[in-house]
Amino acid sequence: MIKFDFSTYTNKFINQEEYRNLLEKKNEYIEKLTNYQMTGWLNRIDDSLVQDLKATGELIKNNFDCLVIIGIGGSFLGSYAFDKAMRKYFLDNKYEIIYAGTTLSSKYLDELLEYLKDKNYAINVISKSGTTMETTITYKLLKDDLKRRYSEEEVKKHIFVTTDEKNGSLREEVNKEGYKSFIIPEDIGGRYSFITPAHLLPLSINYDINKIIDGYYRGKKVMDKAYEYAITRYLLWKSNRYIESFCMYEENLSFFAEWLKQLFGETEGKEGKGIFPVSTIHTRDLHSLGQFIQEGNKIVFETFIKIEESNHYIDYNKRNLHEINNIVEDAVMLAHYKGNVPCIEITIDKLEEESLAELMLFFMLSAAFSGFLMGIEPFNQPGVEVYKNEVRVSLNS
Ligand code: PA5
Repeated sequence: MIKFDFSTYTNKFINQEEYRNLLEKKNEYIEKLTNYQMTGWLNRIDDSLVQDLKATGELIKNNFDCLVIIGIGGSFLGSYAFDKAMRKYFLDNKYEIIYAGTTLSSKYLDELLEYLKDKNYAINVISKSGTTMETTITYKLLKDDLKRRYSEEEVKKHIFVTTDEKNGSLREEVNKEGYKSFIIPEDIGGRYSFITPAHLLPLSINYDINKIIDGYYRGKKVMDKAYEYAITRYLLWKSNRYIESFCMYEENLSFFAEWLKQLFGETEGKEGKGIFPVSTIHTRDLHSLGQFIQEGNKIVFETFIKIEESNHYIDYNKRNLHEINNIVEDAVMLAHYKGNVPCIEITIDKLEEESLAELMLFFMLSAAFSGFLMGIEPFNQPGVEVYKNEVRVSLNS
């Protein structure tokens, strides 16, 4: 279960009349969202697809040393964030998944190929468009490596493709080569694709995806809370709070913050509008950005993610260390509030599959509402094309 406190440390920064007016429009916005295009991520995933994903995950686990995910942005961040949040810090014994496709660093790719030299690895290339530069380059490098090592027929068994149903070069390749493939539905964009094979195939290898799916749809029950979070953020933005810092008290959630940054950054950052998302990992960042937040330019507000209980009991002077971590969180919120920084708190019971997936849908709903409130289209990212065009021009000149 998720608990929310949007008001204790924000009330005095928000125009209460505007808040009430927007709150009255809740059902209107919910109806708009549920009837909007590109909201296939609200629909129930098909059971036969879930079975296929599990069977494919099992096949990968049983036949290959590791899986290399090739994708960028919304095509990898969901599963990456989830996986990183759930893994052990040390002596992690989960199946190895390598996330590539996010860099053109020759150092990284050269060292990756070197690392994979003696491994019998599989690839899951994930791209809705099938044209993304980083994904295309990494995929070609790894496919060429497989081709050097295996017969044509054998290479086909190593490649798993997740892409659009009909369009794009990856779909054409699947049709030609007969690779095992999955679909990213037409009505679901990258950063909203957590409940599609783009993320559920990689996750099926190490996690019970039924738990993830159940938790995710539980998030629909907090749709009204997602709207309340959206209006709180919106009114803070209107009072010149242009930066939202997501504060995590578990180091492994730093990648979850990366997912949040992409979700809100690409959803809202258009037409000169939007809240710039950043993250702070506590308590380490209290010794860096904490100073700015406490006493610097008042353009920031914070969203704290608290985890109520931990399975790890550590006694420190007869107190549970996890409790101490949470007491510190409360104290930091109060300190920042006293420094005139609005703070929002979202609490989950435990760091586990269901609650994390529920939280993800909650944030996706909020991001979409936020786009509507700001008067921008939540499901596109035209600005990303600008750099791609410049790259094309530069590479061809
Ligand atoms: O959220 C989005 O839509 C983007 O971040 C895309 O996921 C990202 O640009 C990758 O696109 P594609 O899946 O087409 O390779």
